[in-house]
Amino acid sequence: MGKKLVIGSSGQIGVELIEQLAKDFGPNQVIAADIKSVSEGKTLGVEYITLDVLDKEKLFEIIKQHNISEVYLLAAMLSAIAEKNIQLAWDLNMKGLFNILDLAKEKHIKKIFWPSSIAVFGPTSPKLNTPQSTLLEPSTVYGISKMSGERWCEYYFLKYGVDVRSLRYPGIISYKSPPGGGTTDYAIEIFYAAINHGFYDSFIAKEVSLPMVYMQDAIRATMEIMQVERKKLTINSSYNLAAISFNPEEIANEIKLLFPEFQIKYSPDFRNNIALSWPSIIDDSFARNDWGWKHNFDLKKTTLEMVNGIKN
Ligand code: SER
Repeated sequence: MGKKLVIGSSGQIGVELIEQLAKDFGPNQVIAADIKSVSEGKTLGVEYITLDVLDKEKLFEIIKQHNISEVYLLAAMLSAIAEKNIQLAWDLNMKGLFNILDLAKEKHIKKIFWPSSIAVFGPTSPKLNTPQSTLLEPSTVYGISKMSGERWCEYYFLKYGVDVRSLRYPGIISYKSPPGGGTTDYAIEIFYAAINHGFYDSFIAKEVSLPMVYMQDAIRATMEIMQVERKKLTINSSYNLAAISFNPEEIANEIKLLFPEFQIKYSPDFRNNIALSWPSIIDDSFARNDWGWKHNFDLKKTTLEMVNGIKN
Protein backbone atom coordinates (compact mmCIF):
# COMPACT_ATOMS: atom_id res chain seq x y z
CA MET A 1 0.00 0.00 0.00
CA GLY A 2 1.40 3.40 -0.97
CA LYS A 3 0.96 6.78 0.66
CA LYS A 4 -1.96 9.20 0.54
CA LEU A 5 -1.64 12.55 -1.20
CA VAL A 6 -4.01 15.38 -0.30
CA ILE A 7 -4.05 18.16 -2.90
CA GLY A 8 -5.46 21.42 -1.56
CA SER A 9 -4.18 20.57 1.91
CA SER A 10 -4.44 24.11 3.30
CA GLY A 11 -8.09 24.55 2.40
CA GLN A 12 -11.13 24.22 4.64
CA ILE A 13 -11.45 20.44 4.16
CA GLY A 14 -7.77 19.70 3.56
CA VAL A 15 -6.57 20.81 6.98
CA GLU A 16 -8.99 18.50 8.79
CA LEU A 17 -8.72 15.58 6.38
CA ILE A 18 -4.93 15.56 6.84
CA GLU A 19 -5.40 15.34 10.64
CA GLN A 20 -7.76 12.40 10.27
CA LEU A 21 -5.62 10.52 7.73
CA ALA A 22 -2.55 11.02 9.92
CA LYS A 23 -4.46 9.71 12.93
CA ASP A 24 -5.79 6.64 11.12
CA PHE A 25 -2.80 5.66 8.97
CA GLY A 26 0.19 7.39 10.60
CA PRO A 27 1.56 10.83 9.67
CA ASN A 28 4.38 9.34 7.60
CA GLN A 29 1.75 7.84 5.27
CA VAL A 30 0.34 11.24 4.36
CA ILE A 31 1.71 13.88 1.97
CA ALA A 32 0.10 17.33 2.04
CA ALA A 33 0.27 19.40 -1.13
CA ASP A 34 -0.99 22.90 -1.76
CA ILE A 35 -0.26 25.72 -4.17
CA LYS A 36 0.57 27.87 -1.14
CA SER A 37 3.47 26.95 1.11
CA VAL A 38 2.35 26.89 4.72
CA SER A 39 4.11 27.54 7.98
CA GLU A 40 1.20 27.29 10.42
CA GLY A 41 -1.49 24.74 11.15
CA LYS A 42 0.55 21.75 10.03
CA THR A 43 -0.11 18.24 11.33
CA LEU A 44 2.99 16.90 13.08
CA GLY A 45 4.93 14.32 11.10
CA VAL A 46 3.17 14.96 7.79
CA GLU A 47 5.35 16.12 4.88
CA TYR A 48 4.15 19.37 3.26
CA ILE A 49 5.01 20.21 -0.32
CA THR A 50 4.14 22.99 -2.75
CA LEU A 51 2.26 21.85 -5.84
CA ASP A 52 0.06 23.33 -8.53
CA VAL A 53 -2.31 20.54 -9.62
CA LEU A 54 -2.20 21.96 -13.16
CA ASP A 55 1.53 21.15 -13.32
CA LYS A 56 1.18 17.57 -14.55
CA GLU A 57 4.90 16.86 -14.70
CA LYS A 58 5.53 17.85 -11.10
CA LEU A 59 2.42 15.97 -10.04
CA PHE A 60 3.74 12.82 -11.70
CA GLU A 61 7.17 13.30 -10.10
CA ILE A 62 5.64 13.63 -6.62
CA ILE A 63 3.46 10.56 -7.12
CA LYS A 64 6.48 8.45 -8.09
CA GLN A 65 8.89 9.94 -5.56
CA HIS A 66 6.55 9.43 -2.58
CA ASN A 67 5.02 6.15 -3.73
CA ILE A 68 1.48 7.58 -3.73
CA SER A 69 -1.42 5.18 -4.21
CA GLU A 70 -4.36 7.36 -3.15
CA VAL A 71 -5.13 10.95 -4.09
CA TYR A 72 -7.65 13.27 -2.43
CA LEU A 73 -8.16 16.08 -4.92
CA LEU A 74 -9.59 19.01 -2.97
CA ALA A 75 -8.10 21.92 -4.92
CA ALA A 76 -11.01 23.77 -6.56
CA MET A 77 -12.58 27.18 -6.89
CA LEU A 78 -15.90 27.46 -5.03
CA SER A 79 -19.20 28.82 -6.31
CA ALA A 80 -19.17 32.54 -5.49
CA ILE A 81 -15.54 33.23 -6.36
CA ALA A 82 -15.77 31.12 -9.53
CA GLU A 83 -18.45 33.46 -10.88
CA LYS A 84 -15.79 36.20 -10.86
CA ASN A 85 -13.05 34.03 -12.41
CA ILE A 86 -14.90 31.94 -14.96
CA GLN A 87 -12.01 30.68 -17.09
CA LEU A 88 -9.64 30.07 -14.21
CA ALA A 89 -12.33 28.23 -12.26
CA TRP A 90 -13.10 25.98 -15.22
CA ASP A 91 -9.40 25.27 -15.84
CA LEU A 92 -8.61 24.52 -12.22
CA ASN A 93 -11.71 22.45 -11.54
CA MET A 94 -11.56 20.43 -14.78
CA LYS A 95 -7.90 20.17 -15.78
CA GLY A 96 -6.92 19.35 -12.22
CA LEU A 97 -9.36 16.45 -12.27
CA PHE A 98 -8.19 15.20 -15.70
CA ASN A 99 -4.56 15.22 -14.54
CA ILE A 100 -5.43 12.89 -11.68
CA LEU A 101 -7.86 10.70 -13.65
CA ASP A 102 -5.24 10.18 -16.36
CA LEU A 103 -2.56 9.19 -13.84
CA ALA A 104 -4.98 6.60 -12.47
CA LYS A 105 -5.86 5.39 -15.97
CA GLU A 106 -2.12 4.90 -16.57
CA LYS A 107 -2.02 2.89 -13.29
CA HIS A 108 0.24 5.29 -11.39
CA ILE A 109 -2.36 5.63 -8.62
CA LYS A 110 -4.97 3.19 -7.33
CA LYS A 111 -7.75 5.25 -5.79
CA ILE A 112 -9.06 8.80 -6.00
CA PHE A 113 -11.37 10.90 -3.85
CA TRP A 114 -12.88 13.85 -5.67
CA PRO A 115 -15.61 15.98 -4.09
CA SER A 116 -18.66 17.07 -5.99
CA SER A 117 -21.30 19.38 -4.56
CA ILE A 118 -24.98 20.25 -4.21
CA ALA A 119 -24.04 22.86 -6.84
CA VAL A 120 -24.60 20.21 -9.55
CA PHE A 121 -28.32 20.86 -9.06
CA GLY A 122 -29.99 23.84 -10.65
CA PRO A 123 -33.28 25.71 -10.82
CA THR A 124 -35.01 22.82 -12.60
CA SER A 125 -34.01 20.18 -10.03
CA PRO A 126 -36.60 19.38 -7.34
CA LYS A 127 -35.94 21.55 -4.26
CA LEU A 128 -37.15 19.12 -1.62
CA ASN A 129 -35.79 15.61 -1.13
CA THR A 130 -33.77 16.09 -4.30
CA PRO A 131 -33.16 12.59 -5.68
CA GLN A 132 -29.79 11.13 -6.58
CA SER A 133 -30.71 11.04 -10.26
CA THR A 134 -32.71 13.98 -11.49
CA LEU A 135 -32.50 16.96 -13.86
CA LEU A 136 -29.06 18.54 -13.54
CA GLU A 137 -29.03 21.99 -15.11
CA PRO A 138 -26.64 23.94 -12.87
CA SER A 139 -26.48 27.69 -13.43
CA THR A 140 -23.03 28.42 -11.95
CA VAL A 141 -19.56 27.81 -13.39
CA TYR A 142 -18.74 25.83 -10.27
CA GLY A 143 -21.86 23.69 -10.68
CA ILE A 144 -21.19 23.10 -14.37
CA SER A 145 -17.62 22.02 -13.56
CA LYS A 146 -18.78 19.65 -10.82
CA MET A 147 -21.53 18.16 -12.97
CA SER A 148 -19.08 17.59 -15.83
CA GLY A 149 -16.52 16.19 -13.39
CA GLU A 150 -19.06 13.66 -12.15
CA ARG A 151 -19.72 12.47 -15.71
CA TRP A 152 -15.98 12.11 -16.35
CA CYS A 153 -15.46 10.19 -13.10
CA GLU A 154 -18.12 7.69 -14.10
CA TYR A 155 -16.72 7.49 -17.63
CA TYR A 156 -13.20 6.74 -16.37
CA PHE A 157 -14.57 4.09 -14.02
CA LEU A 158 -16.67 2.32 -16.65
CA LYS A 159 -14.19 2.64 -19.48
CA TYR A 160 -10.82 2.28 -17.74
CA GLY A 161 -11.68 0.85 -14.32
CA VAL A 162 -10.43 3.95 -12.48
CA ASP A 163 -11.50 3.69 -8.83
CA VAL A 164 -12.70 7.22 -8.18
CA ARG A 165 -15.12 7.91 -5.34
CA SER A 166 -17.12 11.03 -4.79
CA LEU A 167 -19.63 12.79 -2.55
CA ARG A 168 -21.90 15.70 -3.35
CA TYR A 169 -20.96 17.70 -0.29
CA PRO A 170 -23.53 20.08 1.13
CA GLY A 171 -22.22 23.33 2.68
CA ILE A 172 -19.55 22.33 5.20
CA ILE A 173 -19.50 24.08 8.57
CA SER A 174 -16.18 24.27 10.41
CA TYR A 175 -13.87 26.65 12.26
CA LYS A 176 -10.29 25.35 11.90
CA SER A 177 -9.61 26.72 8.44
CA PRO A 178 -11.83 29.21 6.60
CA PRO A 179 -13.66 28.29 3.38
CA GLY A 180 -12.77 30.23 0.26
CA GLY A 181 -15.51 31.96 -1.64
CA GLY A 182 -18.53 29.69 -1.33
CA THR A 183 -22.23 30.50 -1.11
CA THR A 184 -22.71 28.44 2.04
CA ASP A 185 -19.90 30.38 3.80
CA TYR A 186 -22.53 32.54 5.50
CA ALA A 187 -23.22 29.67 7.90
CA ILE A 188 -19.62 29.98 9.14
CA GLU A 189 -19.29 33.79 9.05
CA ILE A 190 -22.40 34.10 11.19
CA PHE A 191 -20.64 32.41 14.13
CA TYR A 192 -17.57 34.67 13.99
CA ALA A 193 -19.81 37.72 13.67
CA ALA A 194 -22.02 36.63 16.59
CA ILE A 195 -19.05 36.01 18.87
CA ASN A 196 -16.95 39.02 17.85
CA HIS A 197 -19.59 41.68 17.10
CA GLY A 198 -22.98 40.42 18.31
CA PHE A 199 -24.30 41.25 14.84
CA TYR A 200 -24.41 39.68 11.36
CA ASP A 201 -25.43 41.06 8.00
CA SER A 202 -26.43 37.97 5.99
CA PHE A 203 -25.90 37.82 2.24
CA ILE A 204 -28.46 35.00 2.10
CA ALA A 205 -32.13 35.86 2.62
CA LYS A 206 -33.88 34.86 5.82
CA GLU A 207 -35.97 31.99 4.41
CA VAL A 208 -33.50 30.39 1.98
CA SER A 209 -32.75 26.89 3.23
CA LEU A 210 -29.66 24.96 2.16
CA PRO A 211 -28.28 21.50 2.93
CA MET A 212 -25.32 21.62 5.33
CA VAL A 213 -23.05 19.25 7.23
CA TYR A 214 -20.70 19.70 10.18
CA MET A 215 -17.04 19.11 9.27
CA GLN A 216 -16.57 16.10 11.54
CA ASP A 217 -19.43 14.33 9.74
CA ALA A 218 -18.08 15.35 6.32
CA ILE A 219 -14.64 13.96 7.14
CA ARG A 220 -16.13 10.71 8.43
CA ALA A 221 -18.23 10.35 5.27
CA THR A 222 -15.06 10.84 3.20
CA MET A 223 -13.11 8.24 5.19
CA GLU A 224 -16.05 5.82 4.98
CA ILE A 225 -16.57 6.00 1.24
CA MET A 226 -12.84 5.51 0.68
CA GLN A 227 -12.75 2.38 2.88
CA VAL A 228 -15.86 0.60 1.65
CA GLU A 229 -15.51 -2.31 -0.78
CA ARG A 230 -15.97 -0.98 -4.30
CA LYS A 231 -18.58 -3.59 -5.16
CA LYS A 232 -20.92 -2.11 -2.54
CA LEU A 233 -21.03 1.20 -4.41
CA THR A 234 -23.97 1.35 -6.78
CA ILE A 235 -23.32 4.98 -7.75
CA ASN A 236 -20.24 5.38 -9.92
CA SER A 237 -20.43 9.16 -10.22
CA SER A 238 -21.08 11.00 -6.93
CA TYR A 239 -23.32 10.29 -3.94
CA ASN A 240 -25.89 12.72 -2.56
CA LEU A 241 -24.85 13.36 1.04
CA ALA A 242 -27.21 14.98 3.52
CA ALA A 243 -27.08 15.90 7.18
CA ILE A 244 -28.96 19.05 8.23
CA SER A 245 -30.86 21.77 6.39
CA PHE A 246 -31.64 25.23 7.73
CA ASN A 247 -32.07 28.85 6.67
CA PRO A 248 -30.35 31.97 8.10
CA GLU A 249 -33.25 32.73 10.43
CA GLU A 250 -33.16 29.23 11.93
CA ILE A 251 -29.43 29.27 12.57
CA ALA A 252 -29.69 32.81 13.99
CA ASN A 253 -32.37 31.60 16.42
CA GLU A 254 -30.12 28.77 17.53
CA ILE A 255 -27.26 31.22 18.11
CA LYS A 256 -29.61 33.51 20.06
CA LEU A 257 -30.15 30.72 22.58
CA LEU A 258 -26.46 31.12 23.48
CA PHE A 259 -26.15 34.88 22.79
CA PRO A 260 -29.57 36.44 23.51
CA GLU A 261 -28.33 39.87 22.36
CA PHE A 262 -27.34 38.62 18.90
CA GLN A 263 -28.87 40.61 16.03
CA ILE A 264 -29.17 39.66 12.38
CA LYS A 265 -30.02 41.71 9.30
CA TYR A 266 -30.46 40.50 5.70
CA SER A 267 -28.81 42.03 2.63
CA PRO A 268 -29.04 39.32 -0.02
CA ASP A 269 -26.54 39.69 -2.89
CA PHE A 270 -25.68 37.61 -5.99
CA ARG A 271 -24.90 34.66 -3.74
CA ASN A 272 -28.55 34.53 -2.73
CA ASN A 273 -29.44 33.81 -6.37
CA ILE A 274 -26.94 30.96 -6.37
CA ALA A 275 -28.51 29.62 -3.16
CA LEU A 276 -31.98 29.89 -4.70
CA SER A 277 -30.87 27.65 -7.57
CA TRP A 278 -29.80 24.88 -5.18
CA PRO A 279 -31.93 22.34 -3.29
CA SER A 280 -33.12 22.89 0.27
CA ILE A 281 -33.12 19.25 1.37
CA ILE A 282 -31.52 16.39 -0.52
CA ASP A 283 -32.29 12.70 -0.43
CA ASP A 284 -29.17 10.68 0.37
CA SER A 285 -30.75 7.23 0.69
CA PHE A 286 -28.16 5.71 -1.67
CA ALA A 287 -25.33 6.68 0.70
CA ARG A 288 -27.36 5.42 3.67
CA ASN A 289 -28.18 2.09 2.00
CA ASP A 290 -24.93 1.37 0.14
CA TRP A 291 -22.37 2.17 2.82
CA GLY A 292 -24.33 2.97 5.96
CA TRP A 293 -23.93 6.76 5.99
CA LYS A 294 -25.50 8.44 9.00
CA HIS A 295 -24.82 11.98 10.26
CA ASN A 296 -24.23 12.68 13.95
CA PHE A 297 -24.36 16.47 14.19
CA ASP A 298 -27.73 18.22 14.22
CA LEU A 299 -28.07 22.01 14.20
CA LYS A 300 -27.87 22.30 17.99
CA LYS A 301 -24.74 20.18 18.30
CA THR A 302 -23.14 21.99 15.33
CA THR A 303 -23.85 25.36 16.94
CA LEU A 304 -22.29 24.32 20.26
CA GLU A 305 -19.20 22.89 18.56
CA MET A 306 -18.74 26.02 16.45
CA VAL A 307 -19.11 28.41 19.38
CA ASN A 308 -16.76 26.43 21.62
CA GLY A 309 -14.26 25.90 18.82
CA ILE A 310 -14.10 29.57 17.86
CA LYS A 311 -13.89 30.72 21.49
CA ASN A 312 -10.99 28.36 22.21
N1 SER B 1 -19.96 25.08 -0.26
C1 SER B 1 -19.93 25.21 -1.68
C2 SER B 1 -20.16 26.59 -2.11
O1 SER B 1 -20.89 27.28 -1.44
C3 SER B 1 -20.95 24.31 -2.30
O2 SER B 1 -20.35 23.09 -2.57
O3 SER B 1 -19.68 26.98 -3.12
